[in-house]
Amino acid sequence: MENEPLVYLNGKYVPKSEAKVSVYDHGLLYGDGVFEGIRAYEGIVFQLKEHIDRLFESAGYIELAIPLGKKQITDALLETLRKNRLKNAYIRLVVTRGVGDLGVNPKLCKDSTVVIIAEPVKIAAIPTEPRVVSTMISAVRRDSVDATSHEVKTLNYMNSILAMIEANHAGVDYPVMLDSRGFVSEGPTMNIFIVKKGVIMTPATSAAILHGITRARFLSVCKDLGYETIEKDITSFELVTADEAFFTGTLAELVAIGTVNRKQIGGGAPGQVTKRVYKEFVKVTRSPEEGTPVYEAERVKTRTKH
Ligand SMILES: Cc1ncc(COP(=O)(O)O)c(C=O)c1O
Repeated sequence: MENEPLVYLNGKYVPKSEAKVSVYDHGLLYGDGVFEGIRAYEGIVFQLKEHIDRLFESAGYIELAIPLGKKQITDALLETLRKNRLKNAYIRLVVTRGVGDLGVNPKLCKDSTVVIIAEPVKIAAIPTEPRVVSTMISAVRRDSVDATSHEVKTLNYMNSILAMIEANHAGVDYPVMLDSRGFVSEGPTMNIFIVKKGVIMTPATSAAILHGITRARFLSVCKDLGYETIEKDITSFELVTADEAFFTGTLAELVAIGTVNRKQIGGGAPGQVTKRVYKEFVKVTRSPEEGTPVYEAERVKTRTKH
């Protein structure tokens, strides 16, 4: 097929229709692998270093050898964007344990599989207010920190998927998951924040959450804007009675929570704090200083404009 997107697969850039991995790959058989979801805005990959660092931390935790160094994998990711002539994109970087036998033992997998997919993201005018979603507190608990830890960004998302199925059945957009102790943890692919009396709060990393890159950058943006921020255990009561609440994540950016269990948060629309931090955060994600340039010439052009 002509003009097919090119996918990086184990050192080669292959057309999408030929980007295939073995049915014996332990990523498929057991969810044995790690990944990152990354955004590029106007030719700048947002927080790329942080994503690459987290990928290597996740891989290190599950003793998965990545066959490329950090620089090599960064170069491959940038080249995937260049080969597809993309400036605004969502990038999926995946490393699986590779081909083994049907047994679970990872020892038999000799070479890991590295995949980089980049897809265009249409950037229309940036909405002035965030999207609003409905949520429910899920009966599916986040796996505890001493189980399939969600601090590791692995290919095993069944915990999130079960909660998403429950939300689909209930007719709401997203589940909010509690951790094994009963404290608020996160959404299926997003971290959660609440606002009470002008203070911005989010679960501490002890609440079995993924250490979100958006969460971390977002917290510093809130501090820069002069807000008090607290990382602490949050109860369902605190969530439901919050003045405002929202999710953050690489793909979603910031999404306002309108309802929890059909109870409105604030007036069911984005509150003042949410709107202010959203506006600032959107600016930060699109700032040339926040990431890695894909096309060096673009970077130079942007610099001279300022
Ligand atoms: C479970 C979970 N929590 C939170 C996030 C948000 O993390 P980040 O901001 O790094 O995208 C993700 C992103 O995929 C996720 O899968």
